Amino acid sequence: MTNPEVYKFFSDYVYQHTGILYKEQDYYRLDSRFNTLVKKFEVKDASELFNLYVQKITPEMHTILIDLCTNNETYFMRDLKPFKAFAKEGMDYLKETFPNSISYNIWSAACSTGQEPLSLLMALDSFGDKLNLNKYKIEASDISTNALDKAKKGLYTGLEVQRGLPANLLIQYFSQVEDNWQVNKDLHNKISFKKLNLLTESFPLNEYHIIFCRNVLIYQDMENKKKILSKISDAIKPGGLLFMGAGESLIGVDIPMKQLELGKAFCYVKDS
Ligand SMILES: C[S@@+](CC[C@H](N)C(=O)[O-])C[C@H]1O[C@@H](n2cnc3c(N)ncnc32)[C@H](O)[C@@H]1O
Repeated sequence: MTNPEVYKFFSDYVYQHTGILYKEQDYYRLDSRFNTLVKKFEVKDASELFNLYVQKITPEMHTILIDLCTNNETYFMRDLKPFKAFAKEGMDYLKETFPNSISYNIWSAACSTGQEPLSLLMALDSFGDKLNLNKYKIEASDISTNALDKAKKGLYTGLEVQRGLPANLLIQYFSQVEDNWQVNKDLHNKISFKKLNLLTESFPLNEYHIIFCRNVLIYQDMENKKKILSKISDAIKPGGLLFMGAGESLIGVDIPMKQLELGKAFCYVKDS
């Protein structure tokens, strides 16, 4: 039986560094994470793990804990409609709103293992105008070192490419390497990946034409959600767009953005 003090210590630590909230009723979800850490650090149990972490947290111990406590669930073309709307109506909207822009800055703000930014590029090709890679600057970031390492490799299992990726795009953009699939370099090199903590780090001002920030704020409490969204709103150019996850909205958040129906999807537009 793990001591409540142990759960509290780790949940507080994770909350403080990521904003990810493990409430008391969710403490049991830390158990499997403790088991992994116990094996990794060759200690007896969660109490010994606690002693180890209380004594001194090295950068390695920090990274391993944070990686374990993030949920990196993602797949290609997740929910499909936002990707179609982004590539078709979204691009028409950008051309009209930013007639003098020769390229567009797009940020996948919690990219996990990379399927989201890759889907953005593939969507531009399959649902929008013929893909001119030079017209887009795609940035992708995540807090998880493990997830980002995988995103940077661009190598996916058969199961991962079966989730959401149409066969024609698999053939066009990936090559098979033994049992895995490697994304084509031209596409992959277009994305610049970096580690970034949405809660604690600052973002550039008025930089992005479009931000995708999907399925990450659901793990935050209202206070942190407001904090992150306010920085995201500042980072979007006036007239630029924000795409959130299917179950996410700006309800209760006071930022200068309004809902916009774009094709068959909804997004938010920043006031001009
Ligand atoms: C469920 S995934 C969503 C991935 C993708 N956006 C999608 O919709 O499929 C959530 C991602 O948010 C990242 N994350 C959680 N808290 C974060 C934070 N404070 N800063 C940056 N990324 C964070 C996690 O590491 C994880 O990869």
